[in-house]
Amino acid sequence: FSAFLTDSFGRQHSYLRISLTEKCNLRCQYCMPEEGVPLTPKADLLTTEEILTLARLFVKEGVDKIRLTGGEPLIRPDVVDIVARLNQLEGLRTIGVTTNGINLARLLPQLRKAGLSAVNISLDTLVPAKFEFIVRRKGDEMCHKEGFHKVMESIHKAIELGYRPVKVNCVVMRGLNEDELLNFVALTEGLPLDVRFIEYMPFDGNKWNFKKMVSYKEMLDTIQQQWPELEKVPEEESSTAKAFKIPGFQGQVSFITSMSEHFCGTCNRLRITADGNLKVCLFGNSEVSLRDYLRAGASEEELLRIIGAAVGRKKRQHAGMFNISQMKNRPMILIGPLPTSD
Ligand code: GTP
Ligand code: 5AD
Ligand code: SF4
Repeated sequence: FSAFLTDSFGRQHSYLRISLTEKCNLRCQYCMPEEGVPLTPKADLLTTEEILTLARLFVKEGVDKIRLTGGEPLIRPDVVDIVARLNQLEGLRTIGVTTNGINLARLLPQLRKAGLSAVNISLDTLVPAKFEFIVRRKGDEMCHKEGFHKVMESIHKAIELGYRPVKVNCVVMRGLNEDELLNFVALTEGLPLDVRFIEYMPFDGNKWNFKKMVSYKEMLDTIQQQWPELEKVPEEESSTAKAFKIPGFQGQVSFITSMSEHFCGTCNRLRITADGNLKVCLFGNSEVSLRDYLRAGASEEELLRIIGAAVGRKKRQHAGMFNISQMKNRPMILIGPLPTSD
């Protein structure tokens, strides 16, 4: 495995998350401030050619999984083309997308044909009116149909087209949706979903506070009271999630415990923001502009040296719940929906 992608703790970074856009058709409360975020001028965002140049380089060095994020990645007009071109990179085994599901049902047949292999869909509530409150958008702003129903349609379309499991990301917030845990669990009875309950994390402008966070232990406890037979299932190496299953159910539930039990020790992720910065940790604020080096005509060797130096500076783990809640970072929308590490 490439030394450039291996950090000083021996972690090999084989998973690259690429943000395709800073824009989103929703305004989720946990992701961005109410007033939105200032967007980078278009000329400063990576072009499709630049994205592919970087992807090619990372794959050559050993990245075998790329996830497209945003903002909302499916807003980028040439997303299908990007997937198709990534699919030609030898050595790349998985191409995933993390999406809010609004446009997914419509685009999925083309994306699948282009080679998309994994789909993660955000859904934080099963109550349509609450959906509008969380995403700060009304039905008519989401193309004449309630967003909630579009997301459900996308989940069913992904199942129908054979994606397994279809991952559903649910950020759990006290006072908002923590009363819906058991309803989400019930969804996994008849559908091959992996419902992932995510601890609410602090990012710039998202009004995080400790009291709004529902911990993994608390969620697990609530579910076990109803389902004592809940059993642990092994998860993939470097997975962000701890997985469980109720015997006889088609799907499973998982917990992403970024706050209460970080998983930085097995982190294998790097990310590139839409404006071309390499971010070695979700909660790290040191970034290096690969875009600027590319545009200055840097050679592959030079780029690799820059990347290797940034990976080499990656910290062992993130700074801890209280420190990261106070540190300066980008709002989630400008990072590319989520992870931890460092
Ligand atoms: P898979 O590739 O299917 O394993 O998905 P994923 O969990 O890596 O990605 P997804 O985009 O679905 O993100 C789901 C959640 O994982 C986010 O809410 C983040 O909380 C968390 N997550 C993703 N990447 C990182 C990371 O690098 N560090 C931390 N701490 N959490 C992350
Ligand atoms: N805390 C936890 N998860 C978050 N996500 C976005 N913002 C937050 C936050 N503050 C999740 C979204 C999306 C995933 C990529 O990140 O639910 O599914
Ligand atoms: Fe958009 Fe996803 Fe952020 Fe919601 S969490 S505002 S869907 S990028």
